[in-house]
Amino acid sequence: MRKFIVAGNWKMNTTVPQGVELAKAVAEKSKELPANVELVVAPPFTHLVCVADALKGSKVALSAQNCADKEKGAYTGEVSVDMLVSAGCSYTILGHSERRQYYGETDAKLVEKVKLALAAGLKVILCVGENLEEREAGRHFAVVTEQIKNVLYQFSAAEMASIVVAYEPVWAIGTGKTASAEQAEEIHACIRNVLEEKFGKAVADDTTILYGGSCKPSNAKELFAQPDIDGGLIGGAALKADDFIAIAESF
Ligand code: 13P
Repeated sequence: MRKFIVAGNWKMNTTVPQGVELAKAVAEKSKELPANVELVVAPPFTHLVCVADALKGSKVALSAQNCADKEKGAYTGEVSVDMLVSAGCSYTILGHSERRQYYGETDAKLVEKVKLALAAGLKVILCVGENLEEREAGRHFAVVTEQIKNVLYQFSAAEMASIVVAYEPVWAIGTGKTASAEQAEEIHACIRNVLEEKFGKAVADDTTILYGGSCKPSNAKELFAQPDIDGGLIGGAALKADDFIAIAESF
């Protein structure tokens, strides 16, 4: 049975005290959530240790937003997977479109990062998604299929148990423009088919596929009601504990 997950990507927002306050509010409010929904928060690197402490005793999991593509050593400014584990992370987001777009993250680099993350015992939330130009050219299925094949086809069926996919159409991120439930569902179904081709039906059925892009309390219910949408990767609305929890209550 696949898991339902609602993950909050805080991006480059909040100071450490603000982040701790937000994490405490999420932990407190998460107590009322049904047990089949897993909550994850992904604060900036600087916050991880303090937020891990704030989440202690709750069921909210801690995620990083990225990790280094090297194990350790002279890589100034980078943060390794072992550092993330020692800070209390059980997940890392990888391949977010903002990393692909602004920091030159390629599928080849992502393969290295996913390998390191899995070897360290982290679960990975791998982001894929087309931009507006690709969507308007009708290339969205092809783009997402290629991203999935380039990265996830390098891994085994057993490793897929530690990988969550997040479909985030770039044109819907932070724009207030959500993909319609139908637009999201058809890509999610496509992703599941692409996974099935390589790993078989059981693995494809068990893989959690999240939707991200202007997901909020008012549209989460319709999105999460789709058969292949197993939760959300939430940006802006994850910065308010009430909204984030309201989204998780939409199942
Ligand atoms: P928004 O929810 O702010 O559109 O961001 C989505 C996202 O990029 C989550 O990773």
